[in-house]
Amino acid sequence: MIPFNKPCYIGNEDKYVLESINSGKLTGDGNFSKKCQKWFEEKLNCKKALLTPSCTAALEMAAILIDIKPGDEVIMPSYTFVSTASAFVLRGAKIVFVDIRPDTMNIDETKIEVAITEKTKAIVPVHYAGVGCEMDIIMEIAKKYNLFVIEDAAQGMMSSYKGKSLGTIGHLGAYSFHETKNYTSGGEGGLLIINDERFVERAEIIREKGTNRSQFFRGMVDKYTWVDIGSSYLMNDISAAYLWGQLEKADKINNNRLESWEKYYEVLKILKDDGLLELPVIPQECIHNAHMFYIKVKDLETRTKLINYLKEKGISAAFHYIPLHSSPAGKKFGRFHRKDVYTTKESERLLRFPIYYKLSLKDIYYIADSVKEFYDKNF
Ligand SMILES: Cc1ncc(COP(=O)(O)O)c(C=O)c1O
Repeated sequence: MIPFNKPCYIGNEDKYVLESINSGKLTGDGNFSKKCQKWFEEKLNCKKALLTPSCTAALEMAAILIDIKPGDEVIMPSYTFVSTASAFVLRGAKIVFVDIRPDTMNIDETKIEVAITEKTKAIVPVHYAGVGCEMDIIMEIAKKYNLFVIEDAAQGMMSSYKGKSLGTIGHLGAYSFHETKNYTSGGEGGLLIINDERFVERAEIIREKGTNRSQFFRGMVDKYTWVDIGSSYLMNDISAAYLWGQLEKADKINNNRLESWEKYYEVLKILKDDGLLELPVIPQECIHNAHMFYIKVKDLETRTKLINYLKEKGISAAFHYIPLHSSPAGKKFGRFHRKDVYTTKESERLLRFPIYYKLSLKDIYYIADSVKEFYDKNF
């Protein structure tokens, strides 16, 4: 069976994990955490990068930082992972779902402004498949209405929009290092990216259970105490050690994934040219990270048939999010603004192929041949 995903392992992770264990300091903000955070701060040129236990945790911190209160509205696409919404719902927000663009599956920037009310507090663009949303327009709208922008860049490390890394354009951004992502901290992990200086001090407090322990460690206060709300939002140093092994080889991992992505595109293009399926669209202003390779087929029925056909051939293909507005919690905590033209329709047609570090060329050819066989037999 060709798996859908293999967690990235590049070779030095275990050495660094052992080093971390032997250092005798395993808690958050240890040696490897500091190395990783410095790496991100330099690479992203952001005000602060804080490792967290997950992207979900980073989004929860963002919701606290922008002071989401019961009744506030937060605008986002419905085609996203649960955490994008739940992080804000936890603070009492109402979610306003806006339709997506059919080309990138990202929030349709032209439909945001009409969804704004006097209760709107933030916009949360999700960079689907590591392909950037139309951030210039989103930031312009946010400025006009005095809203915060939190980028859900869970899938977006190493991607950029107009030369800016995803996650560094809004006030705050979040990455995921879950094992399904391009880079992992050993299973679960995340990063909060702070681009607006105002949030730095409070973020450290929220992340340390609401205490000023970080200031204490830096010798800025002589004892630490409880000063704000917060939770346990630090990544342990063993996870950071695992991640460090991958950050050191970030380009190698990225290039390998991009090669796989481009090969998929090349071998499936003939089916696109024959009008049988659609391939991903990367807008000119975006550089992507090959997080995902998906195709879009005619409809839900074709997708189900193709997934089953590939399964018989030993290939794990997958669909993705069930739009949140159609879920029980989505209905309770959110509403879809205006018409769902593309969200449901496009999500039902999308099918993802295996992609991971060191996916073999042989497997890509086999997958593409199997897809071609399916179309020869059925269409
Ligand atoms: C768009 C998006 N946001 C948030 C998350 C949550 O990430 P994590 O599992 O690190 O909490 C994911 C995870 O798949 C995601 O795809």
